[in-house]
Amino acid sequence: MTHKDSSDIQAPVLPEARRLGVLISGRGSNLQAIIDAVAYERLRASIALVISNRPEAPGLARAARAGIETACLDHRRFGSRQAFDRALVTELRKRSVRLVCLAGFMRLLSVEFLDAFPHAILNIHPSLLPAFPGVDAQRQALEHGVKITGATVHLVSEALDSGPIILQAAVPVQDDDTPETLSGRILVEEHRIYPEAIQMVLDGGWRIVGRRFVRFAAEDSVERSRF
Ligand code: GRF
Repeated sequence: MTHKDSSDIQAPVLPEARRLGVLISGRGSNLQAIIDAVAYERLRASIALVISNRPEAPGLARAARAGIETACLDHRRFGSRQAFDRALVTELRKRSVRLVCLAGFMRLLSVEFLDAFPHAILNIHPSLLPAFPGVDAQRQALEHGVKITGATVHLVSEALDSGPIILQAAVPVQDDDTPETLSGRILVEEHRIYPEAIQMVLDGGWRIVGRRFVRFAAEDSVERSRF
């Protein structure tokens, strides 16, 4: 058996089509889940760029530690949402990003941004959509008194938290839950389903029927080459 050191190992050449851009505003634990999934090859993709709209976002350090290129575009320095979004598109296009993953990105995106990446923007939300869209979804679930909530990965469309659903995971609510304890258990599921949903989208073999994200049989290869 011949010994190979790490310099002998050829890194797989990932097609352009699997280049991700991740947009964050804060902690970046979902970003970390994506970084880890790529590192352990549970997700066959590369993260071409991480962009934060907040210079102090701890997620930027996570990306830097993983050797991923980062950019900070502080939205307060732009005259309008359109100008900010145009700058985002420019940075993402410069790195040939094909799929944009929102991971705790706290800005609404303009139609111009959505048009720049048609059917290629994903978001993760901490509830079973369409229940409890918007901020504080875990608190909303507790206050409403639901017994089951969860996490949703969806394609991003114009209306907030309302695009076609790709994957969901359910999380039972416990009587003694606080927003913090419930958020913690939902987060475990978020970290599991986000990389899985990204892989599904990249693998192709799906289409949107009405509001539904529908996968079709492997032998029906027409749309499998989408990414
Ligand atoms: C997550 O709960 C996500 O569902 C929501 O914002 C939070 C971001 O957390 N969109 P993190 O920055 O990924 O840790």
